[in-house]
Amino acid sequence: MSAERATAILNAAPRPSIGPHLLSVDDLGPDGIAEVLRVAEAFAEVERRAIPKVPTLRGRVVATLFFEESTRTRLSFETAAKRLSSDVLSFSVSNSSVKKGESLRDTVETIEAMGIDGLIVRHPSSGAPHQVARWADRAHVINAGDGWHEHPTQALLDCFTVRQVLAERAGTEPEGTACFEGLRILILGDVRHSRVARSEILAYSALGARVTLAAPGSLLPPSLEGWPVTVAADLDTALAEADVVSLLRLQAERGSGAFVPSLREYTANWGLTRRRVDLLAERAIVTHPGPMVRGVEISGDVADLPITVATRQVTNGVAIRMAVLFLLLGTDGSIGAGVPESETGGAGTTIGALRG
Ligand code: NCD
Repeated sequence: MSAERATAILNAAPRPSIGPHLLSVDDLGPDGIAEVLRVAEAFAEVERRAIPKVPTLRGRVVATLFFEESTRTRLSFETAAKRLSSDVLSFSVSNSSVKKGESLRDTVETIEAMGIDGLIVRHPSSGAPHQVARWADRAHVINAGDGWHEHPTQALLDCFTVRQVLAERAGTEPEGTACFEGLRILILGDVRHSRVARSEILAYSALGARVTLAAPGSLLPPSLEGWPVTVAADLDTALAEADVVSLLRLQAERGSGAFVPSLREYTANWGLTRRRVDLLAERAIVTHPGPMVRGVEISGDVADLPITVATRQVTNGVAIRMAVLFLLLGTDGSIGAGVPESETGGAGTTIGALRG
């Protein structure tokens, strides 16, 4: 995408925002997903600039509220917020008053009382960000992973990455969502405990892709009624048919260890080993949300093959989260207003240069 086109997208008249919160992929629908991907494409262009920072959220405050471990999701959101010039507060349960017995509600109300505009919440309990959204008066709430339930921005960045790879191969610009029509997505691994799987199923199927699940019976959800998926009868056949293989980590912290006889047996029967890679079609793309556990769901050499796009997913995560923050917090018509060009990298190089 050219710098001019990116600037035009980002400076377009305020569109209907996708808010007020992003708790589930279902909050977006196909049009909302397409809009996030479109705006993220513009931010990906911003990220390639010499100064990858724009003044869009200047004066806003975003807090990351993580009650669970994270490397990439937290850093990605914080990087995204900083690239939009927002102030960022980082809350970790390990050094907060939660350790003294403070409730989630009191924690949220305390943080909100400081005038926070965006709350990015990760919590081991499914539904916690929904609860936070009910308590929040002014802040937009973004679900950064709740228990086994959902991880919407992960699914969005997965779709973005797949579309990017397909466009590159076709020698075109990533645009629209037609590339997902009929695309065969195979989600392989611990589906039962995976919030990534649930958000991916909603996102890919909303865009017209066909989703198949492959997992030992013990790691499939107890009921798939109403899920727009099929279950693979045979892993080798499903691999051969897949356009995209979305690998999932065994969620040991959610007890998945007890659902498999042994890690060795799991790898032998369900891991993406070198032998299974040879079954894949040449066009296949392997995604993994990270963290990868080499030697369990993916063998070490497969993790390093060019078909595995995990690092690219991490890179794209920043643009996706910039887009989500922008669409939730930055669509009140104040984008870039009053910011001197000297602070934004010069005229024509960042959206801050274009006002009004
Ligand atoms: C995932 C998560 O935490 O849900 N990781 C991530 O956010 N990139 C997947 C996982 O932990 O397996």
